[in-house]
Amino acid sequence: MTDAAARPLRAAIIGTGAIAQAHAQAIADLAPRIELVAVADVDAERAREFADRFAPAATVHATLSALLAAERIDLVHICTPPQTHVPLAIESLRAGVPVLVEKPTALSLAEMDRLVAVSRETGVPALTVFQHRFGHGAQRLARLLRDGRLGRPLVATCETLWYRPAEYFDVPWRGRWEVEGGGPTMGHGIHQFDLLLSILGPWRRLSAFAARQVLPTDTEDVSMAVVEFENGALATVVNSIVSPRESSRLRFDFEYATVEVEHVYGYTDADWTITPVVGHEQLAAEWAADASDEVSSHRLQLSAILDALAAGTDPSVGAAEARRTLEFAAATYASAFRGLPVSAGDIVDPDPFLASMDGGAVPWPPLKEAL
Ligand SMILES: NC(=O)c1ccc[n+]([C@@H]2O[C@H](COP(=O)([O-])OP(=O)(O)OC[C@H]3O[C@@H](n4cnc5c(N)ncnc54)[C@H](O)[C@@H]3O)[C@@H](O)[C@H]2O)c1
Repeated sequence: MTDAAARPLRAAIIGTGAIAQAHAQAIADLAPRIELVAVADVDAERAREFADRFAPAATVHATLSALLAAERIDLVHICTPPQTHVPLAIESLRAGVPVLVEKPTALSLAEMDRLVAVSRETGVPALTVFQHRFGHGAQRLARLLRDGRLGRPLVATCETLWYRPAEYFDVPWRGRWEVEGGGPTMGHGIHQFDLLLSILGPWRRLSAFAARQVLPTDTEDVSMAVVEFENGALATVVNSIVSPRESSRLRFDFEYATVEVEHVYGYTDADWTITPVVGHEQLAAEWAADASDEVSSHRLQLSAILDALAAGTDPSVGAAEARRTLEFAAATYASAFRGLPVSAGDIVDPDPFLASMDGGAVPWPPLKEAL
């Protein structure tokens, strides 16, 4: 065990809004391995109230710079709106402090590449929150596949069918390409297709559609992709926020079994099913062997990060891996807006989809007023 692992890890939270509460709760649940020692928000009152609620002894700051100047920190949780993620993450990496960044990590592949480069140059990890990779069901599925128990992956479906009313977009920064990087592809479905990619591995080629069906947003409110993986598996990916019965669903058909999960914002083992083919019935018992009722959550991902840091191994989800998920989003937009298939690795300089997810090619007019 390293010296850092022997004492509580000193954590800071930047941005004390909605999702920061999940981070603070995860930190509290994992005490004494980690403690929240400082918070920062441009809204001083919100930061103070947040500290009072979750960590009364924590110091309160207006900016990340002030926080880093005042405190010795081991891990910065970045819980601010997406357009601030990379500048804040780079500032922290340059101060030698690892970051755990909320999704989407970056607004564009070009911005993501800057983060990957600084993480490589400094040797300091830049991690992304993709908490659904860390639930027991996903971990078990990955293990069974790796061990060859399920055979070859053949077909998959990945659906994020969520619902947001028009008023959701009353918040001035919502629904803007330059703040959020996109609609349900970047903001909502990214969790589900990140999990799909983490199980099926590198994708090779996709064809996509995107539309603004009904919501008062500049971005899409639905997208849909058909994708081929390097291992030959074929999958469909749907990202929607116009679907009144909400559902997050993944279905994998392997040679020896179908494995499915259906939930909305987090799953437990009860949300997973396995259906083996004749001759592989023992898979059902193997699947049920170490059942857990823990929900896929920030706590599970943070716990895995603490384990990796203590063991001196690479924590997940590192910047290079998060880039693969972001590239899938960029390719979805590029394919949809150009009406052409896109292969992994296609989006390189000077392709406009490297610099922004909209690629300057959105086929519908903007609705939002200038900020
Ligand atoms: N992992 C998940 O399941 C999940 C769920 C919801 C949101 N998110 C992500 O979390 C991020 C934050 O979303 P939210 O809903 O909590 O937003 P929010 O608006 O509730 O909170 C953001 C906070 O950041 C503060 N802030 C903005 N710029 C700042 C800066 N430069 N320095 C310090 N503070 C700053 C704001 O004042 C606000 O308090 C987004 O990227 C969102 O996509 C992730």
